[in-house]
Amino acid sequence: MLITLPELLPPEALAPCRATLETASWMAGQATAGHVAAQVKANRQLPLDSPAGRQLGTLVLAALGRSALFQSATLPAHILPPRFNRYEVGEHYGFHIDNAIFQSSTAQQRVRADVSTTIFLSDPDTYEGGELIIQDTYGEHRVKLPAGHAIVYPATSLHRVAPVTAGVRYAAFFWTQSLIRDDSRRSLLLEQDLAIQKLIQQHADPAAIAQLTGVYHNLVRCWADV
Ligand code: NI
Repeated sequence: MLITLPELLPPEALAPCRATLETASWMAGQATAGHVAAQVKANRQLPLDSPAGRQLGTLVLAALGRSALFQSATLPAHILPPRFNRYEVGEHYGFHIDNAIFQSSTAQQRVRADVSTTIFLSDPDTYEGGELIIQDTYGEHRVKLPAGHAIVYPATSLHRVAPVTAGVRYAAFFWTQSLIRDDSRRSLLLEQDLAIQKLIQQHADPAAIAQLTGVYHNLVRCWADV
């Protein structure tokens, strides 16, 4: 399931965010990749303890807290601190699958990466290439969104970032451990949640809404890891 979060970061937050990224100290992206992924990775990242990264990470986490769609789509148990990357001309990241388990410095525990999120921070007309290409059972999806928009996709997906051929591409990315490990179950719950929201807006029969809401909660009860 691929979900777009439009304007996760509002336009007024983007210029200060990019100014911070433009003056930050970057390191080679291979340092944080697993052994296999490091061989196909050519980009730059903010160090995990970078003050700029922490400051922007707080802004991203606050935006996630305000996004009802992010909460419904991911049913988060733990969100790892957001990371930031930068692709200059010729840089790219070949096909790979992200690591399954990360040690969270903030939660002092291991976190399973169930859901990946990428937030595009550069306007698409300021760089060429740099699409996030995600493979799923329906084929390849080429994703290049306006600045501030995010894409949420299963961390089980094979994906790559196409080479940037002009300009600079900045993005934030992070992983979420979901209460619901399985992507197809998360999709069913999101569909049900969105349908219930529509029925509420249409002032449908309250008894039927209560019944469907009960089914939603009981499915979460069956499937949740807590
Ligand atoms: Ni990746």
